[in-house]
Amino acid sequence: MKDGFGRSIDYMRISVTDRCDLRCKYCMPEEGIKKVDKSKILNYEEIMRVCSVAIELGINKFKITGGEPLVRYDLMKLLRGMKALPGCEEVTMTTNGQLLPQYIDEIADIGIDGINISLDTLKPERYRDITRVGDLSKTLEAIDLCIEKGIKTKLNCLLQKDFNEDEIKDLTDFALGKDIDIRFIELMPIGVADAERGLSNEETMHCIKDIYPEIQEDHRKHGNGPAVYYKVPGKGGSIGIISAVHGSFCESCNRIRLTSMGYIKPCLCYEEGVFIRPYLEKEDDELRQVFKEIIKFKPARHCFENVRAVDHSAMAIIGG
Ligand code: GTP
Ligand code: 5AD
Ligand code: SF4
Repeated sequence: MKDGFGRSIDYMRISVTDRCDLRCKYCMPEEGIKKVDKSKILNYEEIMRVCSVAIELGINKFKITGGEPLVRYDLMKLLRGMKALPGCEEVTMTTNGQLLPQYIDEIADIGIDGINISLDTLKPERYRDITRVGDLSKTLEAIDLCIEKGIKTKLNCLLQKDFNEDEIKDLTDFALGKDIDIRFIELMPIGVADAERGLSNEETMHCIKDIYPEIQEDHRKHGNGPAVYYKVPGKGGSIGIISAVHGSFCESCNRIRLTSMGYIKPCLCYEEGVFIRPYLEKEDDELRQVFKEIIKFKPARHCFENVRAVDHSAMAIIGG
């Protein structure tokens, strides 16, 4: 359906949990975030009901996020259920990959439409440093397994000054060598993230053009997200730039978000959201109506350039 600015909204990001098995320094405080009581988290029936109504309104592509989605008990049940929803066109997931190896057979069997895996470094000690507890080898194993199973796989990388900016070439070569996409994301000032530590899209592009002067724009569709892609002639995968802060993709924004506690957020940047849980006890009609209202009032654009930090909640709660 169209929002108040005529944008077609056909995609919903669903955060299934605020919990995560990692503690990335730009996302979580060391002690973790205050865990939401489990009773306050939407159950799978509730999520599926929200999805069914969304599908009726033309929102038929879903991205499962967290926290870390794979820490949620029995996530496979939800993925299978969502894929079976009449009218559901796409279910994809964004994960840190640590738990992926143990679920890969089932995920492949479910027929997931794509997996994005976070990979900020190829150096084991750096990975441990940025994630505080992570094991790089697990994520590397997950990437290879996804490729082996023929799942459309993309990498997400957050570049930070004086941390991993020296790895742009190695990370890109790693992805392109495996014929998969890598996307460099601007750090958004959310929760504990200090946006000034992040590389801007311009700085990243500058480095990439130095490394691959022959780079060309790639207009093929790679997903439903805001990334802009470039190709290195002769290479399989593409390089994506996600200008999460300086980008001007809001004009074509296609998404709303459902948080694990049941808030529908029309934009990542604003605190405003509608608590949908009470409406799940009501008739479909009423639920549809609230959805329509939320979409109608979706803001024109984000406001990250003008805020030092959106501190209303951690990234892990909103789900990116
Ligand atoms: P696909 O390309 O379809 O896989 O989607 P995606 O790139 O949106 O998925 P992913 O979950 O991997 O998100 C990558 C990054 O983009 C994350 O850091 C998100 O927080 C960021 N992002 C996603 N949607 C938005 C948005 O609406 N606004 C902003 N500013 N950033 C977003
Ligand atoms: N800004 C931009 N991206 C972020 N992510 C986590 N925190 C931030 C932030 N503050 C990324 C993760 C993951 C994706 C889902 O969101 O690196 O790849
Ligand atoms: Fe977990 Fe993702 Fe946050 Fe890292 S960025 S702590 S993997 S939710």
